[in-house]
Amino acid sequence: MELSLSLRSSRADDSILFLKKVSFAWPSGVKALDECSFSLPGKGLWMLVGSNGSGKSTLLRLISGMLPPQQGSIHCSVKPALVFQNPDHQLLLPSCGSDLLLSVSRALTLSQRRNQIQTVLEQVGMQGMESRPIHTLSGGQKQRLALAGALASEANLLLLDEPTALLDPDSQKMVLETVHALCNRSDKPLTALWITHRLEELDYCDGAALMEKGRIGPWRSAHLLRNLLRPLAGRQV
Ligand SMILES: Nc1ncnc2c1ncn2[C@@H]1O[C@H](COP(=O)(O)OP(=O)(O)OP(=O)(O)O)[C@@H](O)[C@H]1O
Ligand SMILES: [Mg+2]
Repeated sequence: MELSLSLRSSRADDSILFLKKVSFAWPSGVKALDECSFSLPGKGLWMLVGSNGSGKSTLLRLISGMLPPQQGSIHCSVKPALVFQNPDHQLLLPSCGSDLLLSVSRALTLSQRRNQIQTVLEQVGMQGMESRPIHTLSGGQKQRLALAGALASEANLLLLDEPTALLDPDSQKMVLETVHALCNRSDKPLTALWITHRLEELDYCDGAALMEKGRIGPWRSAHLLRNLLRPLAGRQV
């Protein structure tokens, strides 16, 4: 499996996301990405692990277009949407429906927008919650609403920066299963790049890679990556 993942990931033309020697340094001089090259081998749920400061969040900001690369190139053939660790950092309006309205295309009619909002709420298991005030949602529901916002914007590449880090085990599982289902549905499956420090989450992915010092290693099976990281047990990755 690892061999086929590596071979497929070396082709730029059949990948929805391809980075070539991307470098980025913060104004402080810290080099967060250092000639980082990688591609997503295909649709599905791909996970990145790496120690604190290895450049994972900076990478997602570059892929989403929030930051420009200073060197190298990023090719992304689909629409990306970033989901933060803390949903409070991206939910802006008082109710689920009003917040989602911000993400829905303005080219749609009012009734099409309403339908779109209902559809994305159903896709994250929150059907009928259009008028629920956001402050009454649990942490897991807020995170699924943030996911619904990404779906409402018609993004087909989800960039998830430790989306379960603040959640309890039940909510963690629900968010993970929601994203896994979206990436495996028969009609228009999504692609997700998911950053985690929780190695048990790797069981849900189609491939995982290690980020170290601003660079990403080859895609491996979750099992192989967990075995490689076992000697580091006790250190956070
Ligand atoms: N806004 C910023 N301004 C200056 N330096 C930053 C900024 N954001 C990140 N950095 C630095 O860039 C490097 C990479 O940080 P980044 O947040 O991308 O790492 P990370 O892998 O996401 O870490 P963590 O696992 O802790 O979230 C670190 O040295 C960090 O201090
Ligand atoms: Mg980070």
